[in-house]
Amino acid sequence: MTDQELLAAALAASELAYARYSKLRVGAAVIGASGAVYTGANVENAAYSSTLCAEAVAIGHAIASGERALETAAVISPDLTSIFPCGQCRQRMAEFDVQRVVMEGPDGEPVSHTLEELLPGSFTDWR
Ligand code: THU
Repeated sequence: MTDQELLAAALAASELAYARYSKLRVGAAVIGASGAVYTGANVENAAYSSTLCAEAVAIGHAIASGERALETAAVISPDLTSIFPCGQCRQRMAEFDVQRVVMEGPDGEPVSHTLEELLPGSFTDWR
């Protein structure tokens, strides 16, 4: 699957976001070690801190489907030109060995960063 296709899957997922409070719809897609793709969207809550990020939902979807390692993750919002994963989601990605994160560049083109660039020295080494 190309980066563009993965971003398109994440964008499609964002249409089902429950972004009642922020109005910021976010979609994510991850590729598991099996090659399967799992998507998620943000799920907000009146108790704001109970909100789930799109990446958390996509990663949960993958892991609860039996994946134990992930390769590439994509995150996108139809409401924001360029969205980077939050710090907690970077850590969630590190837990499952995500190598690369694809985002939408300023002109709509896929741009990717390694997770090491986004989260240098992640807290996983003690495991
Ligand atoms: N959000 C995500 O889904 N992923 C991120 O990486 C950053 C933030 C969501 C959470 C919340 O529903 C909305 O964006 C505003 O913070």
